[in-house]
Amino acid sequence: MSKYNPLWEYLQANGSSTLKLTFDEIKGVLGFGIDHSFLNAKKEAAQFGYQVWKISMKEKHVTFHRIENTSIIHEFDFGLISEYFVELERQGPGSPEATIKALSFIDNISHESKIADLGCGTGGQTMVLAQNTKGSITALDLFPGSIEKLNAHAEKLGLQDRVKGIVGSMDNLPFRNGGFDLIWSEGAIANIGFEKGLNYWKDFLKKDGYVAVTYESWFTDERPFEIEKWWVDAVPEIGTIGHNISIMQKIGYVPVAAFTLPENCWIENYFSPQKARQEEFLKKYPGNKNVEAFIAFLKQEAELYTKYKRYYGYVFYIGKKV
Ligand SMILES: C[S@@+](CC[C@H](N)C(=O)[O-])C[C@H]1O[C@@H](n2cnc3c(N)ncnc32)[C@H](O)[C@@H]1O
Repeated sequence: MSKYNPLWEYLQANGSSTLKLTFDEIKGVLGFGIDHSFLNAKKEAAQFGYQVWKISMKEKHVTFHRIENTSIIHEFDFGLISEYFVELERQGPGSPEATIKALSFIDNISHESKIADLGCGTGGQTMVLAQNTKGSITALDLFPGSIEKLNAHAEKLGLQDRVKGIVGSMDNLPFRNGGFDLIWSEGAIANIGFEKGLNYWKDFLKKDGYVAVTYESWFTDERPFEIEKWWVDAVPEIGTIGHNISIMQKIGYVPVAAFTLPENCWIENYFSPQKARQEEFLKKYPGNKNVEAFIAFLKQEAELYTKYKRYYGYVFYIGKKV
């Protein structure tokens, strides 16, 4: 338990969407004044439904915002999300070129290598991995429909002997420790948390094994409020590239490479293919408020990207287990 817990509990009990507390008021809640350790601890507020929005040293106050819709995508019906995305080649930003570039930083993958692809979706990147390595791949996702598609696709490409899709959760892996040479995950680690995922997965890697993930990241230290709020609501832990690399290193990986995914990964491969799917979905479920809200959320995601893409994007992080 953190020494700041009484403050987070105070915010949670208060429940206001915005709350400004002076340093003295915070001292009243905690019994001690905030110091530099507050800067490290402030991310804990997310677990209590808040984010530390602004610390004014000049005016001696801290502004907190309530997180309105943590992981909003998960508040939509599981079946609905699955049905929508299962027909799309990709369920997140990415491209074969980016997957191949990330692979180029990884040594010693042979026909004996064991690779896991976690949060694989329908397997867009899994097939690219299989076609550009000689190892065997276990691809895992929560959605049974996606896994069915992935296995059918592997068979169509004649990759069924090296690619096997299974249903499971990436925070409860059905594997033995130390069995993998490479753990891959595109666009999925935020579902369990960047730090938590990298920490947990490390045990499943052999010594000198690699991890390669894409993760939502800030490109700049400061962002406009609208986009900061959107992403902190969706991924409370979101950080800058430097911050994420330092987490990777702290956990026990040597950071090998990090590169940002180019715009075509978002626009051509993620947003554009969704346009027809959205029309189709709205026609299939006329007047369904859940479907309308889900499509509106996805459209807003695309609009915000066009408006604010200089501030954030997906970054490939590649690390080697020490
Ligand atoms: C943004 S999609 C990315 C899919 C694919 N890797 C891609 O890039 O096209 C995130 C995927 O993570 C999966 N997912 C979410 N939470 C998960 C969990 N706890 N365990 C396994 N998969 C999960 C979702 O079902 C979804 O397929």
